[in-house]
Amino acid sequence: MSQAVRALARDLAAHVEWLALSGVEAIPEGVALPRGGGAASPGRDHGEASRVDSGEAKHDLSGGDLGELQRALAGCERCRLARGRTHIVFGTGDPQARVVFVGEGPGQEEDRQGLPFVGAAGALLTDIIEKGMRVPRSSVYICNVVKCRPPGNRNPEPDEVEACSPFLARQIDLVRPDVIVALGKFAAQTLLETATPITQLRGRWHEYRGIPLMPTFHPAHLLRNPAFKREVWEDIKQVMARLGLRSG
Ligand code: URA
Repeated sequence: MSQAVRALARDLAAHVEWLALSGVEAIPEGVALPRGGGAASPGRDHGEASRVDSGEAKHDLSGGDLGELQRALAGCERCRLARGRTHIVFGTGDPQARVVFVGEGPGQEEDRQGLPFVGAAGALLTDIIEKGMRVPRSSVYICNVVKCRPPGNRNPEPDEVEACSPFLARQIDLVRPDVIVALGKFAAQTLLETATPITQLRGRWHEYRGIPLMPTFHPAHLLRNPAFKREVWEDIKQVMARLGLRSG
């Protein structure tokens, strides 16, 4: 099977998963599946809302845009993280960003404000983006693998990741960035479905849903081990080169 066909099959599976999550049980004959931002469809799809009247309720087959996806998460109780959270931390930034940063999950400050990377690690991430890459933080998109804070900042459990992953997949399909940066071991291993250590993953290009992905160390790790900033800068320079940004 060619890479394009595999990517198409993966996108189709993710789309069907999304439809199921949205409450769609059947697709009536003659209703075309809306175009997603999948690997096989170049360019960005910011939601051609396609509705079908299924009798009592109207379901949105496309999942719409990021706003609609966020609304679909409102009041989410798909996993136990719902119990301890203050806010769902969906994501923030430019819906058409060329680069998406993916972290692990919200911390205490993120949970309080409902925004990703707004604590100490967030300040360092902002520096990486604004001082390192020399682009405004608002021009990139930032989100996490799980959208609710794990208690005591523990790692998310596999079933929690599984409950959230269709939302992350759809989020990335909608933004359709040129590059993803996975921040830290957890995000990198989750997105790449591997147990390979971050020390071996970082610095090399991988792929998530057909999009080039660069793993690097998590900003929180850099706060504890500033010596690793050199490696992160090397990784970010590769990202900048891929985006056609000058780093010298
Ligand atoms: N760490 C993360 O992985 N995500 C955040 O949003 C904040 C800290």
